[in-house]
Amino acid sequence: MKRVLHTLAVLAVLGLVAGGAVVGLGLYNVSARVGHMPGVSWVMHTTFRNSVRLRASRPKDMPDLSDAALIELGARHYDTACRTCHAAPGEARSATMAAMEPAPPHIETAVQDWQAHHLHWIVANGVKMTGMPAWPAPRDDDVWPVVAFLLAVQDGMTETDYTALTQLPEADAPMAYCLGCHGDGGTNHVPPLNHQSAAYLQASLHAYRSGTRASGIMAQAASGVSPQALDELAHWFARQTPAEPVAAPQMPVQLIAQGRALAHAATGDGDVPACAACHGPNARDASELFPVLSGLPAPYLEQQLLLWRDATRGGGRQAQLMLKATQNLSDTDIFALVAYYATLRTNRSDADE
Ligand code: HEC
Ligand code: HEC
Ligand code: HEC
Repeated sequence: MKRVLHTLAVLAVLGLVAGGAVVGLGLYNVSARVGHMPGVSWVMHTTFRNSVRLRASRPKDMPDLSDAALIELGARHYDTACRTCHAAPGEARSATMAAMEPAPPHIETAVQDWQAHHLHWIVANGVKMTGMPAWPAPRDDDVWPVVAFLLAVQDGMTETDYTALTQLPEADAPMAYCLGCHGDGGTNHVPPLNHQSAAYLQASLHAYRSGTRASGIMAQAASGVSPQALDELAHWFARQTPAEPVAAPQMPVQLIAQGRALAHAATGDGDVPACAACHGPNARDASELFPVLSGLPAPYLEQQLLLWRDATRGGGRQAQLMLKATQNLSDTDIFALVAYYATLRTNRSDADE
């Protein structure tokens, strides 16, 4: 028994010496030109595929992935975040990307064989040791637009469809890039910007850039622009005339009334005031850092309130106040507050309160 232990100890030391020599003396050839040893690529790729199948589960709260606005948002994000590696539909991969080890598959190939929840897992988590990055924010819900886009590619999106989806509006750079998503008053998933103050827009942009406000989509957009340009953009957007307000969504009258009552009562812990004290309808001048809520689309409001309650949203210096104000809200409270704020611009009696 003693001899066996002795032999094992010697082998372990030899193993460490050999490993140390490979690391310390540079014996392992890291050249991507040489590729992996026979079988290694197969092992890595098969491990990846089985790992995804084991870990990805079907979530209960999957959004409608055939929503055209969601597909467009995903396409626009893909265009700056993923296209360099995976190319666009109908376009060849660049020679340099094709020389990666492993090479990123062309997007038309990459989406084959996967279902929505698998694609969500891959884009959220990335793939270690391959160059496939993880989502750049600790948040999973804003990965869905990209999944919606990937499913549209699976359905046979053409080069012409893709070009139309990702076209930028006529404007100077970098405004054109921002307006691609934020133009025409935004969508259900992208907030309009031109009724907020420059101070709030500026604080939000820096929060996305530094990672204190979580959004993989806006982290990517804000990291492509210098801090100084972000300040200029904040002022530029705040100066634009707000787009014509879209018709207020249909909401049950009772839910709106319930939301109005909640918005005027203190809901948070300790000395946090009511929503209305900071967000109005009548308190718009309370602080430049309090965003205007009326005119924001209902799905965006709901998503943000859920993020606040789950303590994932983050934001600028004043974000702690919001965090405290939302900790005790139930799902029903959130639906009611959304109904109230999303319809506020048409509630004339409210505006006069
Ligand atoms: C720096 C290059 C790079 C970027 C940027 C990148 N990927 Fe990848 N991606 C890869 C590589 C390399 C793989 C192959 C992993 C493997 O084979 O194990 C991959 C794999 C994938 C797969 C799985 C393909 C398969 O073989 O089944 C999907 C889907 C995917 N990427 C989508 C995306 C999306 C969407 C984005 C943008 C949010 C993105 N990728 C950004 C390099 C990249
Ligand atoms: C690919 C689409 C896309 C692009 C491009 C984009 N945005 Fe956004 N933007 C979004 C989405 C989606 C959100 C909501 C993110 C969240 O959940 O926090 C957002 C949120 C914002 C917010 C926060 C608004 C609020 O009410 O809190 C600001 C400010 C902003 N964007 C400014 C910009 C600027 C400036 C640019 C150009 C540099 C830009 N965005 C480019 C999609 C985009
Ligand atoms: C003490 C002041 C204060 C109170 C009370 C307050 N908020 Fe806020 N709210 C803020 C601030 C500040 C922000 C922006 C934080 C940041 O992004 O840095 C904000 C952000 C928000 C946003 C995100 C808007 C956007 O464009 O992304 C929503 C939605 C919101 N609040 C709803 C509410 C609701 C509903 C209540 C009541 C339950 C409430 N707030 C109570 C100060 C307050």
